Amino acid sequence: MSDKKRVAVLISGRGSNMTALIDAAKTPNYPAEIVGVFSNRAAAQGLETARSQGIEAASLAQSSFESRLDFENALTGILEGWAVDYVCLAGFMRILTPEFTTHWLGKAINIHPSLLPAYKGLDTHARAISDGVLEAGCTVHFVTPGLDEGPAILQARVAVQPGDTAETLAARVLVEEHRLYPEALRLLASGAVTYQD
Ligand code: GRF
Repeated sequence: MSDKKRVAVLISGRGSNMTALIDAAKTPNYPAEIVGVFSNRAAAQGLETARSQGIEAASLAQSSFESRLDFENALTGILEGWAVDYVCLAGFMRILTPEFTTHWLGKAINIHPSLLPAYKGLDTHARAISDGVLEAGCTVHFVTPGLDEGPAILQARVAVQPGDTAETLAARVLVEEHRLYPEALRLLASGAVTYQD
């Protein structure tokens, strides 16, 4: 039996970070395998990408559940069905309840397109440009009840260039995201990094 850690990726759309994780997991000696992809949107492009690579893909809409908690319990049921060790949020556009984040504490990580704690939430690149900052970047962090607040695992920095728009900056940060996320998952799955309060 493989001793690789079993990982699910949660997405809502394009899934380019998911693809970076899937590709990294195919490299020799990578300590994790991507066993399933979940989306809260059935139309998420990344679901098709995952299926085309033979990876299980599932979706549930929160609107079909009476409460957020019911939706998350169904999601946890899927993740436990895949027997996952870790959960990677990659462009997953749903706020999670403290019940869910506590259940997966130390096991769930997220990528955020800013140098946290700066620019939590949405529209990070536009806000960074309008503030005139010289440096932007991305962070992989543990998921905790506070939005984009958990301890950082790795960060990558990107210089803001004169004339950058939110789109040009996002594109350069995304290149770093695709490098950073597989590296952070490697650290977690190999046991080199563990969650500390
Ligand atoms: C990424 O920029 C990620 O940092 C943010 O949402 C975007 C998702 O892109 N949380 P993709 O779906 O991985 O292509």
